[in-house]
Amino acid sequence: MLNLCVFASGSGSNFIELYKASKKNNFKINLKLLISNNSNCGAVKFAKKNNVLVKIINSIRYPQNRNYNNEMLNCLRENKIDYIALAGYVKKIPDNIIQKYHRKIINIHPSLLPDFGGKGYYGMNVHKAVLNAGRKKTGVTIHFVDKEYDKGPIIYQQEVPVLENDTELDLAKRVLKIEHKVYKKILKLVIKNDIIKIDS
Ligand code: GRF
Repeated sequence: MLNLCVFASGSGSNFIELYKASKKNNFKINLKLLISNNSNCGAVKFAKKNNVLVKIINSIRYPQNRNYNNEMLNCLRENKIDYIALAGYVKKIPDNIIQKYHRKIINIHPSLLPDFGGKGYYGMNVHKAVLNAGRKKTGVTIHFVDKEYDKGPIIYQQEVPVLENDTELDLAKRVLKIEHKVYKKILKLVIKNDIIKIDS
């Protein structure tokens, strides 16, 4: 069975969905580790309650870049992690990890990339920008992670309609619901088929 590490910084609803999926017999992926920069976030609280191994790595605990990066890589190695799924992780993934886990790190983003991606486009900012731009549709993107934010090859996109009078919150909820449905499915497909083949 392959070992998965999730990186999360926030409420962790996507992490929780992946966790639940991993408990089902047919998922065949062992969610072994949660890495977070935020010891107080929902994802960490859930992981601790549910006996998922948690590692907190942030610049307070590891002020030197080199130690921070090494600690992260060592932790992944020690736990024999094969794949990484980012789920609302707000920090940049160090280059050494991107290199070692080439096409084995995926991320989910709450818009149709390349639109509304990159620096500053996180959380409600994304949905606010979609509404301000007057878009009639938004969506979910799952992509491989490269050195640049939200720029790696796209694996899967699903459109979500923007309805008249939608608030940011309405949109966020509609998009998140789709994220919860598709992330586990696509992650499983990526791992099963080793989708690295499509672009290498
Ligand atoms: C999701 O919208 C995801 O697309 C983005 O961050 C958010 C995380 O939400 N990368 P949650 O913490 O999983 O609820």
